[in-house]
Amino acid sequence: MAIYAIWNNKGGVGKSYLTFQLASEYAYQHPGKKVLVVDLCPQANSSSMLLGGMDIGEQHLNDIHGKQPRLTISGYIDDRIRSPYVPTKSGADYITQVYKYNDKVPSNVYLVVGDEKLELQSSRVSSATDKNRGPDDAWRIVHLWIKDLISDIKYSWKDTDTCVFIDCNPSFSVYTELALTAADRLLIPFSADGSSKRAVKAVLSLVYGKRRQLGDRQSDFYIETNSHRMSLPEIYMYIGNRLTQMNNSSASAFKTVVDEISDEIYSEWQSSDTPFCMHPSGTPKPNNKKTFKNMFQFEVNDANTASVVSGALGIPIGILTAGQKVVAGKTVTVNQSQLDKQVPNIKDLVKRIE
Ligand SMILES: Nc1ncnc2c1ncn2[C@@H]1O[C@H](COP(=O)(O)OP(=O)(O)OP(=O)(O)O)[C@@H](O)[C@H]1O
Ligand SMILES: [Mg+2]
Repeated sequence: MAIYAIWNNKGGVGKSYLTFQLASEYAYQHPGKKVLVVDLCPQANSSSMLLGGMDIGEQHLNDIHGKQPRLTISGYIDDRIRSPYVPTKSGADYITQVYKYNDKVPSNVYLVVGDEKLELQSSRVSSATDKNRGPDDAWRIVHLWIKDLISDIKYSWKDTDTCVFIDCNPSFSVYTELALTAADRLLIPFSADGSSKRAVKAVLSLVYGKRRQLGDRQSDFYIETNSHRMSLPEIYMYIGNRLTQMNNSSASAFKTVVDEISDEIYSEWQSSDTPFCMHPSGTPKPNNKKTFKNMFQFEVNDANTASVVSGALGIPIGILTAGQKVVAGKTVTVNQSQLDKQVPNIKDLVKRIE
């Protein structure tokens, strides 16, 4: 079983969109496995897409949020706030089979539904990490909450082969920390703009303690993870998202930015001990820029209207058809050319996810 966190501390780079597409496509490609999405973002965007999109998905979300007990990530976090240091073994109570709400998503996709209530709970989660309020290793135990949640679910599935995707919010919140502790692999989406380069560096410094300048303070997360001898996820892939293929000046500007980010990542690989996850398993360690790029970088094109429709209607791009669609009462057209741009991309990306 692999657990992937999808994170970049820059907003709007496609974390939730890719979570939705990856989970759905992975489930199509692996019908014998279960796919679990843990939505750790209070905006619950990936949940909304999985549950049917902007209209129906949002309605389903409201219904789920309105029920007691609250069968969402916040329901589980409430359990853990009540029992911070003793595992509640209650994780499996909080799974939703997506297909029951949205039959466009394969029946082997399961979701721990995102919830805006996470924001209200976060100060209590943070204070539970304080050893003055709990045991000496309070920080460690609380940071294992999401790992515990996934273990509970896995146990209830009698160890069926499972792949887990955790959608994170952009900020380095306590929930992002919990996700990074639970994950063994990290997918880092980025977009082709100047601030993405800074964000890529920020991920390295926040998660792996890379100092940008001598004397820079390291993150508490990095320091505590080390002092408790806990593991960090390995970098699995950088995903350049919403890249445009058109042969024009904006495409070449995009390429310049992507190349700069690429150089940044490559020099990190060459010069430091940041953990990268070799894949597919058994592949030798890359020994030049080309083989490095093949293993650790991927590009997903901008699919324009097709992606808007896919997200808004909760139809994974792999099964979206061309033609007229109704989104929020308006008719829009999905062109086959837009699908041709992104569908093979997403399928290839998923083939690289083990
Ligand atoms: N490859 C793509 N082609 C076209 N549109 C895309 C693509 N990827 C993402 N988008 C769109 O970009 C917008 C931002 O994506 P998304 O919400 O997934 O980003 P995010 O990183 O999760 O944002 P946040 O940081 O707020 O959680 C969405 O409207 C989404 O539909
Ligand atoms: Mg998001």
